[in-house]
Amino acid sequence: MIDTLGRNIDYLRISVTDRCNLRCRYCMPEEGIENQGHHHMLSFEQLYRIVKVANKIGINKVRLTGGEPLVRKNIVQLIRAISALSSIEDISLTTNGILFPEMANDLKQAGISRVNISLDTLDKEKYKYITLKGNLDRVFQAIEKALSLDMDPVKINVVVMKGFNDDEILDFARLTYELPVHVRFIEFMPIGDLDFHTEDKVLTIGAVKSIIEETYNLEYGVNIKGHGPANYAQIAGGKGSLGFISPLSNHFCNKCNRMRLTADGKLRGCLYSQDEIDLRLALCNDCTDEQLLALFKKAILMKPAQHHMLDGWGKNNNRKMYQIGG
Ligand code: 5AD
Ligand code: SF4
Repeated sequence: MIDTLGRNIDYLRISVTDRCNLRCRYCMPEEGIENQGHHHMLSFEQLYRIVKVANKIGINKVRLTGGEPLVRKNIVQLIRAISALSSIEDISLTTNGILFPEMANDLKQAGISRVNISLDTLDKEKYKYITLKGNLDRVFQAIEKALSLDMDPVKINVVVMKGFNDDEILDFARLTYELPVHVRFIEFMPIGDLDFHTEDKVLTIGAVKSIIEETYNLEYGVNIKGHGPANYAQIAGGKGSLGFISPLSNHFCNKCNRMRLTADGKLRGCLYSQDEIDLRLALCNDCTDEQLLALFKKAILMKPAQHHMLDGWGKNNNRKMYQIGG
């Protein structure tokens, strides 16, 4: 469906759970997070029904995120069911990779042909620090496994944080020379744990590019399968590519094609907007498919022209990243 600004909304990101097996410092506080309990979450059947209805108004690409989507029970069955819908062209996954190695064969068989893995450092100790409990070896195994299953593209999401991983930008760049992976540098957004996010930790994509370009010649205009805002480049002769995502310094809202479904069933047009429509409530009140479709359309029409992340760091933030889905 085309929204009020002429954007073709064809992509739905679904947070299938607000739970996670890690506690990345910028995303979740270590303690005191209120997972909303299973009864507040969309059930498998409700999720499937929403995708089916969304598909009728032109949503043909779906990404499953979280929290960590692989901790959700029956995730493989959900993927299989969504993949079986004939007009869903693409179903993808954003994961921290910890549970991926064991599940990868089943995921592939269920319909996942590409994957985004979140990884902010290549150093074991730093990984433990930033995730509070993660084991970096598992993430490397996840990347290897995805490559061995010919998942394509295999993307690695790196949230760039000054003072934490800005000294590893070249190491990540080098990884794309050696392996057919696509490393995406993402500007650190004021969403999530706002005690951890401070302005002085933000490094703009322009600065990231400068660091890389001091050492490598980047060739721009590379085309990597995906539906998002990254702009890709390649080191000459490299097997993979580098992606740059600049929600802060150069927002891409005018090309935004997505809607987001939170784990508790609220549909929102923007990561940073408070406007949501409660699909779960409607489903629990036995709404018809027509009613669900009308709510979906209404949410698309409410999609804001752009985010206002820079107007007040975090002031607008009523929800956490693990609830909305990154
Ligand atoms: N800024 C930028 N990216 C973030 N992510 C989570 N929180 C933030 C933030 N504050 C990333 C995760 C994951 C993706 C879904 O979003 O690292 O890769
Ligand atoms: Fe979990 Fe991802 Fe949040 Fe880290 S960023 S705590 S892996 S949901």
